[in-house]
Amino acid sequence: MGYDLAMRVWRGDADGGELRDFTVEVEEGMVVLDAVHRLQATQANDLAVRWNCKAGKCGSCSAEVNGKPRLMCMTRLNLFDPGETVTITPLRTFPVVRDLVTDVAFNYEKAEEVPTFAPGRPTGDDGHHRMQQVDVDRVQEFRKCIECFMCQNVCHVLRDHEDKKKVFAGPRLMIRYAELEMHPLDTNDRRDLLREEAGVGYCNITKCCTDVCPEHIKITDNGIIPLKERVADASFDPIAALGRRLRRH
Ligand code: FES
Repeated sequence: MGYDLAMRVWRGDADGGELRDFTVEVEEGMVVLDAVHRLQATQANDLAVRWNCKAGKCGSCSAEVNGKPRLMCMTRLNLFDPGETVTITPLRTFPVVRDLVTDVAFNYEKAEEVPTFAPGRPTGDDGHHRMQQVDVDRVQEFRKCIECFMCQNVCHVLRDHEDKKKVFAGPRLMIRYAELEMHPLDTNDRRDLLREEAGVGYCNITKCCTDVCPEHIKITDNGIIPLKERVADASFDPIAALGRRLRRH
């Protein structure tokens, strides 16, 4: 059954913009992205919106819906009361390109700073690498990240302190570091980088990132806290520090 949906959508660009009201005819079973597409098709042909898979897997369609970061393609309209206005705004932490599209280049620039996977010599007698299933599972959780950047968007260090973007990479990148640092076959040591360049110490464990992750990655408990512990071991334990220094020589 169809009904009229009241929508309020942010329109504008880097120079500024405003919320505009629309009424869009929608049908039962539609998601927010469907309503945006209907709006685009019928009333606002030039509305900029980023999307790709429409299956919650590409991470492109993140926006703030009624003030909460969501994947628009996975947010059903029946989540809202009929008659309630659905307000859609771009992710606040990143600069607006146009309408609902933001420039998320910051995340890719930070990703370039992370040393890549560097496997050591094969651990098996047959020349193959071997690792325990428990290690596979640990790393696999982090690899579920779809780079929707909603965790970056809600992280108050990045959201409320523009200057901290220079010194803190944010939860998405912490998960990238965790994926590599906790890989038993990897030989790179990123702990100094984590502390000095990625700024792991700036995270104060409010867990807002974990709350919004659409893949339910336990970003704080399984990623950031163990990374903090590893960095603390490396930086503040004199015996561990001496061991690392000796290994380097
Ligand atoms: Fe791919 Fe929404 S369009 S996650």
